[in-house]
Amino acid sequence: MTVQTDAPGVPRLGNATGLSCRECGNTSPLGPYYACEMCFGPLEVCYDFPRLTRADIEAGPHNIWRYAPLLPVPADIADRQTTQPGYTKLIRADGLAAELGMRRLWIKDDSGNPTHSFKDRVVAVALAAATEMGFKVLACPSTGNLANAVAAAAARAGVRSVVLVPADLELPKIITTSVYGGTFITVDGTYDDVNRLASELAGEHPDWAFVNVNVRPYYAEGSKTLAFEIAEQLGWRVPDQVVVPIASGAQLVKVDKGFTELTSLGLVEPTPWRVFGAQATGCSPVSAAFAAGHDVVRPVRPDTVAKSLAIGNPADGPYVLDVVRRTGGWIADVDDDEVVDSIRLLAATEGIFGETAGGVTVGVLRKLLKEGRLDPDAETVIINSGDGLKTLDAVAGAVDVPDPIRPTLEAFTQRYPAVG
Ligand SMILES: Cc1ncc(COP(=O)(O)O)c(C=O)c1O
Ligand SMILES: [Zn+2]
Repeated sequence: MTVQTDAPGVPRLGNATGLSCRECGNTSPLGPYYACEMCFGPLEVCYDFPRLTRADIEAGPHNIWRYAPLLPVPADIADRQTTQPGYTKLIRADGLAAELGMRRLWIKDDSGNPTHSFKDRVVAVALAAATEMGFKVLACPSTGNLANAVAAAAARAGVRSVVLVPADLELPKIITTSVYGGTFITVDGTYDDVNRLASELAGEHPDWAFVNVNVRPYYAEGSKTLAFEIAEQLGWRVPDQVVVPIASGAQLVKVDKGFTELTSLGLVEPTPWRVFGAQATGCSPVSAAFAAGHDVVRPVRPDTVAKSLAIGNPADGPYVLDVVRRTGGWIADVDDDEVVDSIRLLAATEGIFGETAGGVTVGVLRKLLKEGRLDPDAETVIINSGDGLKTLDAVAGAVDVPDPIRPTLEAFTQRYPAVG
């Protein structure tokens, strides 16, 4: 038995068989449910996976639908109107590795997605499941990237969208959401205020699918595809260490779940991996709980340049702590100066312009190496989950914009005598 949102329809969601409560294990049929009626714990999608080979997957499309049998989506999803996210590059980061004294470092560069963040993955899965469940509108509260992804995916599928964001969001994220059409609402408040409003709206509008609220169990599954791709792109191997940014914590929890599923399906050798979490100091409730040895996460009021990660009351916080402790990883946070410095380090060593979340991840990688928490010799993957072009303001004050010179050789050599 579960809390229901009243949307009609019998979902056909591939190999997904039902929902189970993460806290008490109570099971329920597939449907528009997100909280356990017994204990209000979050619900998790369960599957009956078929026998699946690497060749089956490799024969699939070059997007997340190559993993459709491992997701709660209809079997014909690859033929539908979707943004086709995923299959982003896994880049060998020798320049950054040399700078940090590491041996084998990779960057999973999710800025290559259709709206330039990993959110296209989760939204594509949420939209597919929501459509099957009879929802009519795609909606979300967002710290920015999710807003882009929902507005774009809805536009492509010909579905109405309603997107709510904190009014102080970076201007590029506001423009790159508005451009897709749909209803776009800026709210005077923090993300956590926006999230509360979204929950109330979900109660009022039973045919609106708030991707990260009332269809969250399906939405969150989309982040498993990061783990699937990382392992496949490494030649069907799980890396020793992975560093993941944390806002709600869903991405980190699902990267671990993805590696677990690949292992239990025999698609990778059963080797151990360690999961590390990254937060900005100005919004570090999970990092603080980890440092204090707590199991509960005390909410904070965010104040950081890393607005995409500014969730003060992270829904998956306790589960992040579980994953990180179980796998022998660590969680740390870095301040805003370090975030900006790390964005520049990533850009200068790898030619990758990450958004502030990427800066947080690289900053925490650097910090944990210095502290000896991360093994510099072990194969490591870090996730760059978004694009620096959406958070230009964060670095605008830190880069030199030169005054122009006259278009003459003389002016050039006068200004730049030692260049080259
Ligand atoms: C660029 C970027 N990276 C990482 C995250 C963290 O995602 P999660 O809420 O799954 O922890 C977000 C969340 O908004 C994001 O926008
Ligand atoms: Zn329960």
